Amino acid sequence: MAADPLLRRRELLALLGISAAAAAASGGANLPAAQALSRTAARRPPSPSSLPFKPLPGPLPLPVAGLSGAEQQRLFSAITLDDRLVVPDGYRAELVAVWGEPVAAGRFGYNNDYLALRELAGGLALLTVNFEYISPRPWLEGFKEATGEELPARAVIQALLERGGAVDVPSLDPTDPLARQCRQLAAAALRDLGIGVIALRCDGEGSWRREPGRYDRRIDGLSGLEDPAALLRVSGPAAAVFRARERLGYDDGLGDRVIGTFSNCAGGVTPWGTVLSAEENFQDQVAEAVFADGSASPPAQQPFQFGEQRVRGLGNPFALAGNKYGWMVELDPQRPEQPAVKHSWLGRFRHEAVAVQAVAGQPLVVYSGCDRMGGHLYRFVSAGRISDPADPANSRLLQDGRLEAARFAADGSGQWLPLTPSTAVDPLLPSHFEGHGVPQACRLPHSDRRRAGAETFSSDAQVADYRRRFPTLGDLYPGEGEQRMGAILIDAHLAATAAGATPSARPEDTDLDPLNGDLLIAFTAGGANADGRADPAIFRGPAGEASWPHGWIMRLSDGGPAAGSRFRWRMAATGGTPWQGGAGFTNPDNLAFDRAGNLWMVTDHSGRGREILQFGNNGCWLLPRSGPAAGEALLFATGPMECELCGPCFDAAETSLFLAVQHPGEANGTRAGAAREGHGYRLVNRDGLPFDQLRWVPLGSNWPSGVPGRAPRPAVVAIRRLDGAPLLAPGRPRPGEQ
Ligand code: FEO
Ligand code: CA
Ligand code: CA
Ligand code: CA
Repeated sequence: MAADPLLRRRELLALLGISAAAAAASGGANLPAAQALSRTAARRPPSPSSLPFKPLPGPLPLPVAGLSGAEQQRLFSAITLDDRLVVPDGYRAELVAVWGEPVAAGRFGYNNDYLALRELAGGLALLTVNFEYISPRPWLEGFKEATGEELPARAVIQALLERGGAVDVPSLDPTDPLARQCRQLAAAALRDLGIGVIALRCDGEGSWRREPGRYDRRIDGLSGLEDPAALLRVSGPAAAVFRARERLGYDDGLGDRVIGTFSNCAGGVTPWGTVLSAEENFQDQVAEAVFADGSASPPAQQPFQFGEQRVRGLGNPFALAGNKYGWMVELDPQRPEQPAVKHSWLGRFRHEAVAVQAVAGQPLVVYSGCDRMGGHLYRFVSAGRISDPADPANSRLLQDGRLEAARFAADGSGQWLPLTPSTAVDPLLPSHFEGHGVPQACRLPHSDRRRAGAETFSSDAQVADYRRRFPTLGDLYPGEGEQRMGAILIDAHLAATAAGATPSARPEDTDLDPLNGDLLIAFTAGGANADGRADPAIFRGPAGEASWPHGWIMRLSDGGPAAGSRFRWRMAATGGTPWQGGAGFTNPDNLAFDRAGNLWMVTDHSGRGREILQFGNNGCWLLPRSGPAAGEALLFATGPMECELCGPCFDAAETSLFLAVQHPGEANGTRAGAAREGHGYRLVNRDGLPFDQLRWVPLGSNWPSGVPGRAPRPAVVAIRRLDGAPLLAPGRPRPGEQ
């Protein structure tokens, strides 16, 4: 269909809480594009001078630029992507920290993601940084320069190829040199993951500089392996599972202590000053499947693999227990001596991020999504109540409560399902998906309860038989007391699926609207993969598509913390091209509100397939809350080649936006010379007329050095205005040198 600026603006106004009545009047939680268009006349975009900055043009023609169809066609028929971090006129980006720099006894890790800035009295600020995963090609190409060390990567890759690509390292003869080499390689990778804290100070010019000192800290993927004092702690019922004397599965011998943290994706801050760091794709490095008592599969189930395209099983050489990863980790950046804690009441799943609601007199409520296709949205509600949201003792509230998962209804309502032993088994049936023309089997905890993991059920009759055998979660997880609750929390994804939680569209960030307390959720992509499928009754494209790869931002108004309470939801923005009825971006990932309630959003697309690649490099968008541009999506920054931008956060004065540049050069590694490729796209101008674009795309990256042939490195940047004013202060920033 043709360009749909009206729908886009209307959705974005809804996103920002401005047009709730209009959205409700549409009669459903999704807003059909044609319906919206037919109701209201076309609208002119805001005048360019009324925007808070001059948005980057990006690779697709967007209505907000105010160009005519003919002008769009002329300006967008040939473009070149940049291997740079591009910001608008009048702003500049400065490096704050780069992979490989020393931090405490370790180094600034790889693939920085979530960022949290806490400013202390006296001008010092503590930046907490997540380090998520290894992109093998640019990691290997840059490792020597970043760390000064050599790795036996060639030898290991060759030896693994000769053994079928994977090896169970603990089962190798200890004298086999491959065992030592695999441990060395896996240790180098795990030392680059986890969490870091670095101290910064803002100089007189507005630049943030590192000031290493007593707060600098690294918790990495192997913390505690050699020093028991550095082991992580566990709170809540899973600790009882880890301490159990007998178990169906693997015992790492560490009781309720844990070696390290990895796959640290996004996170959140608490009002009492601690940081929550989300362990996301842990299943790549350790075995995910657990037994009915919550115990782990043997480490051999996720053997060590290492190649230029794929790194798996980093936990295998160290025999890590898979049930100890996939948690939410709390640390206090101001107390480097205090161990980090994995809070098991928040559940074990592929935690992307977290949002914390702490209101005096109320229970603590913590929201988090599981970023897998068909993953669920969860909330934890504490047993105790908050008295002072800033009280550091509030961490104790994370030690007792209940975990609930969201069930969405197509009419815009929803309900929280408590995950307890008495919860009924009542999953979404295969016929539900068949009714939408997208067959999908149901994956439930294995019906042979002596076996770990899931089993697939493809008919309603099979599910009905399963429900007769296992009427409640307590029938699936047959232990006693804390151990039984711990087993449910450890297997939270399958337990929530069994309870009937909605399989959703890869929930990424969760953030609370500072002006009204609503929860905003970035669902990055709908559709299906080997993990599952998003519910096509809820996650539909602008024209009702049952699979939609460009994602949504949902606004959820929660109905209070009571067990099993209800909520309202609506899709506030839909990704996609303007001519598909989308907002101009694809795959929303991290979100950050500024104090005025403007929403900042970064994208993370996979870089695969023309439908996605047409959106160009991942970027950072501003969705203004008020003013002439309210309801528009303005492109504020684009990253260098093959990266994503993560972790948007601000200083207290909102003069600096911190961003993590993750995995530059992930696909093609180091850019050699001026290597580039020409791509052709068919785009559509604002008059609905198709036209062709020739696009030059650099191959690989040299960011941040910009030196041809030099390996790219992940790094954190701070973006500020050249005139020193707050990022969105009235009056356009003066154009100037960047
Ligand atoms: Fe680590 Fe879901 O992004
Ligand atoms: Ca993310
Ligand atoms: Ca966030
Ligand atoms: Ca990501």
